[in-house]
Amino acid sequence: MTKKIAVLPGDGIGHEVTAEAVKVLERLRRDFGLKVTMDSAPVGGTAYDVYHHPLPASTLALAKQADAVLLGAVGGYKWDTLPRELRPEKALLALRSELQLFANLRPAILYPQLASASTLRADIVAGLDLLIVRELTGDIYFGEPRGTRTLANGEREGFNTMKYAEHEVERVARVAFIAARKRNKKVCSVDKANVLEASGLWREVVIRVAEDFQDVELSHMYVDNAAMQLVKAPKQFDVIVTGNIFGDILSDEASMLTGSIGMLPSASLDAQNKGMYEPIHGSAPDIAGKNCANPIATILSVAMMLRYTLGEPMLAERIERAVSKVLDQGLRTADIYTEGMTKVGTKEMGDAITQGLM
Ligand code: IPM
Ligand code: MG
Repeated sequence: MTKKIAVLPGDGIGHEVTAEAVKVLERLRRDFGLKVTMDSAPVGGTAYDVYHHPLPASTLALAKQADAVLLGAVGGYKWDTLPRELRPEKALLALRSELQLFANLRPAILYPQLASASTLRADIVAGLDLLIVRELTGDIYFGEPRGTRTLANGEREGFNTMKYAEHEVERVARVAFIAARKRNKKVCSVDKANVLEASGLWREVVIRVAEDFQDVELSHMYVDNAAMQLVKAPKQFDVIVTGNIFGDILSDEASMLTGSIGMLPSASLDAQNKGMYEPIHGSAPDIAGKNCANPIATILSVAMMLRYTLGEPMLAERIERAVSKVLDQGLRTADIYTEGMTKVGTKEMGDAITQGLM
């Protein structure tokens, strides 16, 4: 059956990196039997410029009726002064919540070819392969009440609400345990249960879910310690499961262990494995339009799409092998460049990977 992919390039380097990922998809379609249709629509600041809204109804409709969404990145200086409701980032949050993409999978894998690109010592990160499962539709990101108010003394105050309902914790914990079963069978749940009620409940529910996964080892860690352990001894982790805001922060940290945020893909899944796939890096307006962004994170996001939503694990592996091969050949975009390698641009990297899809 032909599946539908909605392509939402977004802003900044989002355009350049999704163009390379689409190239890869087109080659898979032409030469390797992948049956997909692709339709694109604007999102973020690019959409705001035309429709005066970062997530136009037509874009949301396209995303809703697709089987999978490929998203580039959103945001840029130009839109930073808009009211919060109209900022590009709002489109991303609305897509996550409208499509009920509650489970965000962010793998941090160190390609051996890039061990020296990490800012950490090679022996600390060599062989690193961890997966952060971040809850994506709850927590302080969406909790009500929120806003700003004026206190009795005339001073203004901003406020947000961190909260988690049991079912929200339960479903994301299940995703983490199921993922761990296919890996090294360890889940570390990260919270701040020593201080926060929301975290206390989070921990209780995770412990309850763990009863259904006796073959998986569960541990708990406070988020401050987790931040430290990630740079001290990152290889102790297999799967980390955590809430929205802690996951936001820890996944940026984990990405740097691998040398470049330009390498890391992500998947955001609903209960039926419909997903939105995006690189974890942002729109990088400072380098946009210069053909120097790394398209690998987006191309690897396509591999995740093939694996989780499109049911094509062999094609996913084909992409991953092609990426590994171009790295073996010494091709590097600027963000992962080290001396002695061949520096290439976004397009050249995309072409090499597309050709490498043997
Ligand atoms: C991410 C980003 C987003 C988030 C921003 C752009 C809203 O940092 O996907 O990690 O905070 O979730
Ligand atoms: Mg983030």
